[in-house]
Amino acid sequence: MSAAVNAEPLQDRAESLSRRFAEVYGQEPDGVWRAPGRVNLIGEHTDYNNGFVLPFAIDRSALVAVRLRRPDQDPEDEADVVRLASTYGQKGRGLSHARFRTGGLVPGAAEGWGGYPAGVVYALQQRAGVSVPGFDLLLDSTVPVGAGLSSSHAVEVAVIVALNDLLGLGLDRAGMARLTQYAENEFVGAPTGIMDQSASLMGQDGGALFLDCRSLDAENVPLPLADHGLEVLVMDTRVAHSHADGGYSARRSACERGAAALGADSLRDVPADADLSGLDAEVQRRVRHVLGENQRVLAVVEELRRGNVDGIGELLVASHASLRDDFEVSCPELDLAVDAALAAGALGARMTGGGFGGSAIALIRAETENEVRAAVLAAFEDKGWKEPALFTVLPAAGAGRL
Ligand code: GLA
Repeated sequence: MSAAVNAEPLQDRAESLSRRFAEVYGQEPDGVWRAPGRVNLIGEHTDYNNGFVLPFAIDRSALVAVRLRRPDQDPEDEADVVRLASTYGQKGRGLSHARFRTGGLVPGAAEGWGGYPAGVVYALQQRAGVSVPGFDLLLDSTVPVGAGLSSSHAVEVAVIVALNDLLGLGLDRAGMARLTQYAENEFVGAPTGIMDQSASLMGQDGGALFLDCRSLDAENVPLPLADHGLEVLVMDTRVAHSHADGGYSARRSACERGAAALGADSLRDVPADADLSGLDAEVQRRVRHVLGENQRVLAVVEELRRGNVDGIGELLVASHASLRDDFEVSCPELDLAVDAALAAGALGARMTGGGFGGSAIALIRAETENEVRAAVLAAFEDKGWKEPALFTVLPAAGAGRL
């Protein structure tokens, strides 16, 4: 199982990133840090309701090579300049560049993907009182963009672990999760919860992260897929999604309205069997999803603690149905991927992440992988839809220095 992280040739990637850094910036980096993407096994749209989630960090990650500016070596007027370059999504040896200054940083001051590192700097300044010097950074990532696997959170987490080490900040994992959430909410402008950063920061090789999103108490629950002859297949529909769009925040505010109408601070404080009949129909559906989903997370955790990995499939299917029918964040492509995988023998399948596109996951027996892949591809081809990207993932360790 420790093949999980090692399935990625991390040392090779780190060395080639360091070499490239020296070419681009003319100096060696101070180090290379890695932060993984995630899939969520179950517990969707529960994080911002102070509920439970069960994601795992995956063996696809963002790497950043970073060098802090030195007052004695860098021109004085560049002391607070951050230069960013990325190989991500570029053809051949192309790079995408961005730049900002850490001094006087305000939301909107960095364009495009530069907003993620800038958001982290902003969070450190605003919430942790850290004075962040300028730095040079080169990014490379194997987390597909827009697939709902937290590619942007992986960038934020890689930056915060790098700055935490280089500046000797002594932040713990929960603290870094809260800071990157602040970056995402206040700087990037996406009203997301705390699951994705936490998975990237606290993931454990071979396990899923059972996280209480209120306290950030975390437990590593073993997910020995290979021992059970199982795999998790990601089905990226390649339908773009964005949590800065209205659908996500509309769901979030419906949940808040529901909690208020039920006299609770958050849906976490509403009992699973509460009487919802007084709520308007839409809010009732949203609340029903969240209450049921928290229970399903607890049930999956129980099964996994008992070593019954094969037994979680039905709970995954129930989660998908609830997200599709009650929370209404699925889409035809996600539904088709789930249905096709189940029809081809998957033990369970569901959309993963915020929805409105992105990826679904299927829990499959390893020997059926080719059959499931073929069935999903055929179903999309029949509809004349864009071919989904299919790949398996393993639970990997959380972020750190390489
Ligand atoms: C996105 C957000 C998370 C979480 C999920 C839904 O991935 O970033 O905080 O709310 O959607 O579970």
